[in-house]
Amino acid sequence: MSDQLAGRTVFITGSGGVLGSAYVRRMLAAGARVIASDLPGHRADALMAAHGGNPNFRFYSLDVAEESQVETIFSRIIADGWHPNVVLNNAAITGELLMGAGKPFPDFANTSVSDWERTLRTNLTGAFMIARQMDRDIVGRWPATLVNVASMYALNGPHHEIYQGMPFRSFSAYSTTKAGIHGLTLWLAGYWAKRQATVNTIAPGAVFNGHSDEFQRRVGALIMAGRMAQPDEIADAMLFLCSAQAGYMTGQLVSVDGGFSGW
Ligand SMILES: NC(=O)c1ccc[n+]([C@@H]2O[C@H](COP(=O)([O-])OP(=O)(O)OC[C@H]3O[C@@H](n4cnc5c(N)ncnc54)[C@H](O)[C@@H]3O)[C@@H](O)[C@H]2O)c1
Repeated sequence: MSDQLAGRTVFITGSGGVLGSAYVRRMLAAGARVIASDLPGHRADALMAAHGGNPNFRFYSLDVAEESQVETIFSRIIADGWHPNVVLNNAAITGELLMGAGKPFPDFANTSVSDWERTLRTNLTGAFMIARQMDRDIVGRWPATLVNVASMYALNGPHHEIYQGMPFRSFSAYSTTKAGIHGLTLWLAGYWAKRQATVNTIAPGAVFNGHSDEFQRRVGALIMAGRMAQPDEIADAMLFLCSAQAGYMTGQLVSVDGGFSGW
């Protein structure tokens, strides 16, 4: 238990995933009040089972792709007596999620416009709508910070050959949205600066989530550290970006990728 996030009330989208659930656990332990949100389902249920009894934890069902839901989320939270001063645009359609949907992973030539648009809607339009709502309901009322979540595939292309024979691939819409989200960070940083709001991007590297030894070997060879990250290693940097110690940072992209983007 530390007090790194004492006084922080953190709102997180997509909180039930591999990284989101680590952020929730670590932020509660660091003294934050945590407002988790996700689509209804087993991830939301697992969060409630783990933290539902904690007075510093709340959960709201939220689909970030649904404008009407996003437009009321902060007014509902504020009406319930909590005042978020940190917001994480963490929800995304990821490779893990497409795999979980049980669909064969499409190659580029067979990528449907509907998968492309669904990915843009969640990863980019959803993040825009959350930021816009933060502008309407929070920014200027009290000091606040936004962290947008990109990826090591935002500024670097994938080595496509590491996915050969794997049940998943990297997909084009994902990289496109992760490159785009840092544009939102840059645009907002200057726009919010005079209203005591900061915004940064975190770009996590490849996070271990039960991947095969062969995949770990292939991707590990591309990473200076020689291995995938544990979720807690991404959380370490995320907690810093959410803390008062990051108060003089805005408009930045922080890569936490074991050196993937460094060579
Ligand atoms: N895990 C990695 O290796 C990795 C690497 C780089 C970046 N990232 C990024 O980190 C973030 C978290 O990734 P993760 O690994 O935890 O992914 P994950 O797939 O485990 O979790 C994503 C979460 O987003 C939620 N979500 C999806 N669509 C949503 C919607 N419309 N509304 C609300 N919630 C929705 C899902 O329910 C899920 O809980 C993502 O933005 C991802 O792109 C992850």
